[in-house]
Amino acid sequence: MEGRWFCDREAETALLVSRMTSGIHVFVLSPRRYGKTSLLKRARGAFRDNGGRCAYANLLLATSEVEVAQAIVQAVVRDLLGPGSRARHSLEEVLRHLRFAPKVNVGPDGSVSIGLDPAVVGDSWLGVITDAIEVLRRAGGHDSAPPASLVLDEFQVVANIGRGGIGGAFKVLADEASGVSIVFSGSHLAVMEQLTKGQGAPLHGMGERLVLDVIDQDEMVPFLQRRAGSAGKRLAATTGRLIYQSAEAVPNYVQQLALAAFEAAGAEATIEDGHVEQGFETIVERQASAYAQAFEDLGSAPVQQRILKALAAKPTSAVYGRAFLEAVGGVNANAVTTALRSLDGRELVSRKARVWDVADPFLRRWLLQGAA
Ligand SMILES: Nc1ncnc2c1ncn2[C@@H]1O[C@H](COP(=O)(O)OP(=O)(O)O)[C@@H](O)[C@H]1O
Ligand SMILES: [Mg+2]
Repeated sequence: MEGRWFCDREAETALLVSRMTSGIHVFVLSPRRYGKTSLLKRARGAFRDNGGRCAYANLLLATSEVEVAQAIVQAVVRDLLGPGSRARHSLEEVLRHLRFAPKVNVGPDGSVSIGLDPAVVGDSWLGVITDAIEVLRRAGGHDSAPPASLVLDEFQVVANIGRGGIGGAFKVLADEASGVSIVFSGSHLAVMEQLTKGQGAPLHGMGERLVLDVIDQDEMVPFLQRRAGSAGKRLAATTGRLIYQSAEAVPNYVQQLALAAFEAAGAEATIEDGHVEQGFETIVERQASAYAQAFEDLGSAPVQQRILKALAAKPTSAVYGRAFLEAVGGVNANAVTTALRSLDGRELVSRKARVWDVADPFLRRWLLQGAA
């Protein structure tokens, strides 16, 4: 989502670009779907426009240390060879600075993929990342290196890699990467907090924290109106607010519901409240099999299934109260704590202002409809 389809986040974009320029590390945190990746790409664009070098690595699919290193090397190589690069480098020139020669594959569209052999790299994966960061730092013209930044999206995965996670290794990298701003971005707030917050956390005090909230209604509704307008439809502010509130302000859900309402309006010139409701139903239907799967996956943990249904019926902060414990099968408080932690980890429930709730408004509707 680029350019004019990007809503607000001006302060956050400016802050990120400024830290990237100054070589300061940043942690970007929010639940999934709040707009971290969108913000990172926006900031990367602005930073590059100012002459900065920015490598963006998505760690989501990395399952081992070597795969993390591979994703980072690939990001650096792509940045240096990419169209935004002012001083285009040759592939050999870039790879020469890595302690191991990776396998390189160039796709039909010219995109470069990097493969590192775990048998060769082994324990030296951290050294390979160090090399890649150094290449990024020194890239640019011959005389002066431009400011450089390495963005690590889906950083929370490092907590599950190796024995007990590799967060600590990134402290070493962050300490040594002088002149390169590392942006660590992650969902799973609990995991990100374990990595960054409090004494003893591997990355404690390593950088500034940017906690992303939802986008304000006052920004998002006029944005939806402009979008509808440019596609030839009218959207009243009240209907825009209905979309925003039905989607519970989460940027991704707001956009999804706005599109579904637009489609429901068909040939009509105005998006009405009724179209919002139709759009909502369409989304629930479209996701029904995924919801059924997620619910079935909890089959070995009926307490979790019952909690999900109970929260769909009534969000509550009193999850240890007698009424709730009885409603979920007469279990004890410990069982509820364990179940909530697991549901939270699967992003099926969330806790806002102390109140536990189903995380997704469409899933809530599906649960309340009795899986119709
Ligand atoms: N600033 C924004 N303006 C408009 N839509 C946004 C914005 N941020 C996020 N969105 C919507 O939410 C979706 C998910 O955002 P994404 O950046 O992938 O979230 P995250 O990385 O936090 O999971 C986007 O595809 C877009 O539809
Ligand atoms: Mg993302």
